[in-house]
Amino acid sequence: MAFTTTVITGGTSGIGKETALALAKKGHAVYLLVRNMEKGEQVRQQIITHSKNNSVYIVHCDLSDMESVRTAADTLRNSLMAINVLINNAGGIFAQKEITKDGLEMTFAVNHLGHFLLTNALMTQLERGQARIINVSSEGHRLGKPRFNDINWEHTPYSAMKAYGMAKLFNIYFTRSLATKFGPKGISSFALHPGVVSTEFGAGLTGFNKTLMWLASPFMITAEEGAKTTIYLATAQRIDAKSGKYFKKQEVAATSATAADEKARQTLWELSTEMIEPFS
Ligand SMILES: NC(=O)c1ccc[n+]([C@@H]2O[C@H](COP(=O)([O-])OP(=O)(O)OC[C@H]3O[C@@H](n4cnc5c(N)ncnc54)[C@H](OP(=O)(O)O)[C@@H]3O)[C@@H](O)[C@H]2O)c1
Repeated sequence: MAFTTTVITGGTSGIGKETALALAKKGHAVYLLVRNMEKGEQVRQQIITHSKNNSVYIVHCDLSDMESVRTAADTLRNSLMAINVLINNAGGIFAQKEITKDGLEMTFAVNHLGHFLLTNALMTQLERGQARIINVSSEGHRLGKPRFNDINWEHTPYSAMKAYGMAKLFNIYFTRSLATKFGPKGISSFALHPGVVSTEFGAGLTGFNKTLMWLASPFMITAEEGAKTTIYLATAQRIDAKSGKYFKKQEVAATSATAADEKARQTLWELSTEMIEPFS
């Protein structure tokens, strides 16, 4: 790609920040979608300084608020003819159940539905850019089951790990749906696990989950290491034949059997399409 326009969520911290910096160093124009404009501006300045690339921009986008996602997509649609790389990287795990202003469970909204709306709203620009869409999933998807009848955890006791596992499972379904539906239009899509990475991720966890994070901490890799597979998928030549796949350590990896469920994949697409309809 001669001139590459990259849009990334979660570029203000951890894996996303390292990814944005590395891609700016490679000469990409980088659009950071940020929920905190002050923090976003600080990170933008840092990336410009360290990459010596002035083409770094911030756009406000709170992925837990579908109006905000829609507005961010409109801003990008109005300023960009084409997008070559979209990195749906932002995410989080939430100790307590939280409901967003749209009435959605927070883990689902931030990790899945916000990105589903963003990606679909940018589809014209993505098609023009023959884009790669990269969804940062997790090995945590193995804990996930598709609870389509109880997305908001109203009938099942909320579990931070299970809610996170389901959202990361949905990242893999979403990836395969994008590859299937938009592959013929020149779009490719990839999911990945970044590794167990020392970032702000999980900072709000409590109790047993906090202890688990503490136990894992000596084995965690740096954010720079954790960004490697995303950077690889954003820049590698000739990987389109692997569109729809899940990657670890820059290679195709096996998913859980649940993540291979084609019916669930299609159900997620239909349900998500209905849910974003008021914001489309
Ligand atoms: N760390 C790991 O071991 C690990 C393992 C597997 C998968 N992952 C995945 O990797 C991705 C990046 O995580 P990380 O480890 O780099 O965590 P992080 O340091 O906590 O970064 C998360 C990023 O997401 C942004 N974000 C959170 N909620 C948002 C919202 N409502 N709207 C917009 N942006 C929001 C944060 O913005 P602020 O800067 O404003 O907080 C931050 O930029 C996530 O999808 C995570 O699930 C991480």
